[in-house]
Amino acid sequence: MPNDDLFKKVIAHAKEYGFIFQSSEVYDGLSAVYDYGQNGAELKNNIKDYWWKSMVQYHENIVGIDAAIFMHPAVWKASGHVDAFNDPLIDNKDSKKRYRADVLVEDHCAKIEGKIEKEVKKAAKRFGDKFDEKQFITTNPRVVGYNEKIGEIKDSLYKAMDNEDLPAIKQLIEDLEIVCPISGTRNWTDVRQFNLMFATQLGSTAEGASTIYLRPETAQGIFVNYLNVQKTSRMKLPFGIAQIGKAFRNEIVARQFIFRMREFEQMEMQFFVRPGTEKEWFEYWKEERMKWHFNMGIPGDQYRLYEHEKLAHYANAAFDVEFNFPIGFKELEGIHSRTNFDLSAHQEHSGRKIQYFDPETKESYVPFVVETSIGLDRTFLAVLSYAYQEEKLEDGSERTVMRIPPFLAPIKVAVFPLVNKDGLPDKSKEIMDTLKYDFMCHYEEKDSIGKRYRRHDAIGTPYCITVDHQTLEDNTVTIRERDSMKQDRVAIDQIPEVVKEKLRMPR
Ligand code: GAP
Repeated sequence: MPNDDLFKKVIAHAKEYGFIFQSSEVYDGLSAVYDYGQNGAELKNNIKDYWWKSMVQYHENIVGIDAAIFMHPAVWKASGHVDAFNDPLIDNKDSKKRYRADVLVEDHCAKIEGKIEKEVKKAAKRFGDKFDEKQFITTNPRVVGYNEKIGEIKDSLYKAMDNEDLPAIKQLIEDLEIVCPISGTRNWTDVRQFNLMFATQLGSTAEGASTIYLRPETAQGIFVNYLNVQKTSRMKLPFGIAQIGKAFRNEIVARQFIFRMREFEQMEMQFFVRPGTEKEWFEYWKEERMKWHFNMGIPGDQYRLYEHEKLAHYANAAFDVEFNFPIGFKELEGIHSRTNFDLSAHQEHSGRKIQYFDPETKESYVPFVVETSIGLDRTFLAVLSYAYQEEKLEDGSERTVMRIPPFLAPIKVAVFPLVNKDGLPDKSKEIMDTLKYDFMCHYEEKDSIGKRYRRHDAIGTPYCITVDHQTLEDNTVTIRERDSMKQDRVAIDQIPEVVKEKLRMPR
């Protein structure tokens, strides 16, 4: 269920503590474009590092590349993006707000799903331990009716989308009596197609310039480099190519903070396999990717797998990993079986043979591809919104703590002198200097210790080290752990050992 209150708090917290700022804020901002601040950049880099290590370093048959954002315009013709990367949009004439027509219908379905969730919760309370959720969903007449309704609506929507039947989509919106969330009216324009790619000019003179696009996905940089990488790395199938990079989409619905941005980052991996084995690899990658998510320590009930009914033009199977964002369960990652659509299309459009000679079967063929594609910014939002907690403490005070998985935390260790005199700052800086080459550290001497703890709770720092007068006598410090707030006294030379264990990246 969406939690608007939590969403507002997370957005405000992200700004107040240097995670995320609106782009060009001094000029009132640029819609759906965001900048990462000092703590945000660290967290983002740590997520990237976790993904890159898990995919590239821990898999001997995956290599990473970094392709350019600008690509030959023919790439986007071949990939189908020029002709088919469209969203159907509709305007409300009273609020003058623009919406994705399919999202309006899907949001309507999500409202019905919300009713189902309420029925399930009510029944679970009523039946207690004896409650069988599966049986209830398949037999309770009201829930069955809701599910049938959702099925009918989605069938009509996907049929209309497949046939590019824009009047049918408008009719569906009218039949469902969907109103504009701003004006509350049903005064809609017709539905129109809108290509999401940003175009720009390459070349200095109007006559000599050609239209090129900012890439809407990083995947095509991998496909067009398939031959180069396969030959130079001497990889044998199955093998993968991974990449992290910016992608750009002129999104219509852009009111969801960093969930839907116009400039964002993707972490994608294309896994090239022998035709006929793609379903097996699809299952393998579904499992591997879920392990990656669960290893962050976020519980499984925050994730949901959604099998696509309406497949993209290139796919023969697709799953979304959905996350329980404050705006409800929404797509975080896509796992797609992309067939040989892209490589075949580039082979046809470029006139170059893009094939693999299989030494086992002695055949040449265009490999099939299983893709895992996750939004870096959405992962960031998932981590940030799940981590955000307001706690009432035993002494009656309150704290806001970001329970960010320690290995992802922007600052790993904060070092404080208890007081700003008696040689404690010098001793603290000495400790900082021994730790900073291994851990992202932060030194703070302003305000009371309590305030300094709160500031670091608010950015998710797993360990705070306090240097006091006893330190000068016996070379020990107190280490305070973020979640338990427990404080232990340890010898200075023990600090790396104590903190290292908890900061280790999962494998
Ligand atoms: N190569 C396949 C592909 O691009 P996609 O489902 O369109 O598939 C993959 O995008 C992932 O990229 C999504 O699951 C999402 O996490 C992220 N993503 C897509 N559009 C986004 C946007 N406008 N803002 C932030 N993240 C986005």
